[in-house]
Amino acid sequence: MTRPEVRIYEVGPRDGLQAEATVVSTDAKLHFISLLAEAGLSEIETASFVSPKAIPQMADADQLLARLERRPGVRYPVLVPNQRGLDRAIAADVDAICLFTAATDAYAEHNIHMTVDESLATFAPIAVEARRRGWWIRAYVSTAFGCPYTGEVDERSVVSVSERLLRLGVDELSISDTVGVAAPTDLRRVLGALTAAGIGSETVALHLHDTRGTALANVVTAMELGVRCFDASTGGTGGSPFAPGSAGNLATEDLVYLLDREGVRTGIDLEGVLAAARFVADALGQPLSSKVGRAGGWPS
Ligand code: COA
Ligand code: ZN
Repeated sequence: MTRPEVRIYEVGPRDGLQAEATVVSTDAKLHFISLLAEAGLSEIETASFVSPKAIPQMADADQLLARLERRPGVRYPVLVPNQRGLDRAIAADVDAICLFTAATDAYAEHNIHMTVDESLATFAPIAVEARRRGWWIRAYVSTAFGCPYTGEVDERSVVSVSERLLRLGVDELSISDTVGVAAPTDLRRVLGALTAAGIGSETVALHLHDTRGTALANVVTAMELGVRCFDASTGGTGGSPFAPGSAGNLATEDLVYLLDREGVRTGIDLEGVLAAARFVADALGQPLSSKVGRAGGWPS
């Protein structure tokens, strides 16, 4: 297979389902994940090893991973917030984890009950152990474009936490518009500051929520700036439970449609993604919210 020009990192089973009121069964999650792999998605964020009290939707993470059929060539990262999460990840025999903090203390405190400094101190030994095991490590920088608790975010905070995460040895940063406020000018400002600090687009992924309908415009801008990895959620599900007002992630089917139409290779089959999107909408008992989910591809 030719190498994709743009990576689509699927977050539906995790970011998508964690914020839905309906808790999807482990069986349905496993089927959803297999449909995603079938559609050609090769990075599928599967679950979170977080407190089941914080996120009941992820309470079955251990059983899910134990039953997951891992396809060769597909990466199945999981979220790890602390040592307890690391122990669960080791028991689940994963080879890719995501750490997650924020550009603002207020969001980190709401989300993981730690300041940014405390989160980095918590992650340091986890990153050492993950690297010793040869795992791939991604780190989320939430609220990089705006914080539901403090408002506008200075790009210097994004650069500072990104630099500190890279010093821990993370392979990729997912710069996140958690509440979906960014427009292309914000992208230029934040990505420009990262580049100026020597953090190039090869280590940067973009995580966009489409709360205000700006996600695809931001994708096009970010591609012009060299970004080659985008997070998306099949079915357009999601939103952070700790980000009041945040809506779903950029839908994978909307992103695949755009990239196909632009002639950008992703290795992902739109019809396959739509099948997975319909499945997850059924499992949640709600209509598909994505534009392409409703209209279908073109030519149909
Ligand atoms: N897995 C399972 N349970 C865990 C856990 C983990 N990784 N970490 C902590 N817990 C349990 C503890 O055992 C304790 O349980 P108890 O009340 O039955 O004794 C409880 O959670 C609280 O533990 P504590 O260490 O005091 O953590 P906390 O209350 O400060 O919460 C986090 C910190 C990180 C565990 C919690 O905020 C969390 O899981 N957040 C995840 C949020 C998230 O996933 N957001 C969406 C992603 S962007
Ligand atoms: Zn998100």
